[in-house]
Amino acid sequence: MSSFPFLNLKELNRSLDGEIRAAMNAVLAHGQFVNGPEVRQFDREWAAFCQVPEAVGCANGTAAMHALLECLGVGPGDEVIVPSHTFVASAESIRLSGAKPVFVDIDPDTMLVDAASLRESITPRTRAISVVHLYGMPVDFDAVSEAAATNGIPVVEDACQAHGATYKGRPTGGLGAGAAFSFFPGKNLGAFGDAGAVTATDADLAGRLRRYVDHGRTEKYTHIEMGTNYRLDTLQAAVLLVKLRHLREWTRRRQELAARYEEILSAEPFPSFPVRLQKAPEGSVSARHLYVIRVANRDAVIEGLREEGVRTGIHYPIPCHLQPSMQDYTEGEGSLPHTEQAAREIISLPMCPTLRPEDAEEICSRLRRVLEKTAAVAS
Ligand SMILES: Cc1ncc(COP(=O)(O)O)c(C=O)c1O
Repeated sequence: MSSFPFLNLKELNRSLDGEIRAAMNAVLAHGQFVNGPEVRQFDREWAAFCQVPEAVGCANGTAAMHALLECLGVGPGDEVIVPSHTFVASAESIRLSGAKPVFVDIDPDTMLVDAASLRESITPRTRAISVVHLYGMPVDFDAVSEAAATNGIPVVEDACQAHGATYKGRPTGGLGAGAAFSFFPGKNLGAFGDAGAVTATDADLAGRLRRYVDHGRTEKYTHIEMGTNYRLDTLQAAVLLVKLRHLREWTRRRQELAARYEEILSAEPFPSFPVRLQKAPEGSVSARHLYVIRVANRDAVIEGLREEGVRTGIHYPIPCHLQPSMQDYTEGEGSLPHTEQAAREIISLPMCPTLRPEDAEEICSRLRRVLEKTAAVAS
């Protein structure tokens, strides 16, 4: 029986072996490992990809979001609204700025920030709203920006999972004041280690970000404002430039795989188990970083799939507001019911550009067997 890894990075990288080695050798030859020409070139190409005036390479996605909040002036005494159903870094970046994360619930259908919950959480101390395009799916940005605009609050995008996703035809990264991207190896665009980028729609903000990630400097030893070292390595930029040439094709393949999953899982017998799927907000086209389904007996289904040779993931089993590291900022268990229920039910199925629509068919037929077996045990 063939087996399906959750993500086959080795195979994906193998297909680019020659191109990547040549790009890395070019960096070894010129020797500018910090702030080398590849970093600036990547900034330009990433900005063009996101259709924004400026992008700034960063050390990772967490640093990118922290830099963005700092450069928007977020600090101690401020509140930043963020969904709890996300990777913990979405909240950590807020804590790093000194502000308080205010966790909000999700819409149970989209598993993305719930606009009503967000509106209720706005206070005079709200200094920013951070929306997370989770699993690659853009949030209902019009609903969020309407709530934000009424209160004059900037919206930032956590686009760490949403490279090349679009909302009403506009790419993520250019929807709000700025956005953070992660190029962690497993992301749709992944480096050979940690890397990230921040985008900005305003030239002043972009200038501050560029200085912030490089010690606030304007000249080698002139530091005009507070900054830190959040730079993107030249070697990582060189790898990213190669991979960026393939990103559109990889996204297309992810979307094709997801469409096949969707087609099969929306038809009988799946809805009768029931298996729930992530719905897209109107106008959102997902970059399909993850393909997530929901079932009530999640742990038994994951185990059954493992026995069937299908590896899965859980993104994420513990919501931010129930993380021990966030306990001073939450009302604990029961406070965000849709988030807590999703965390108990979600399963990420294999998702990788190396998989074909036929693989979705085979994975779904194994899932069907597991659902039948586990339902029989439960009854
Ligand atoms: C939604 C989300 N936000 C933030 C991050 C943080 O990115 P990084 O791991 O590059 O710091 C990630 C990456 O895992 C993420 O998925």
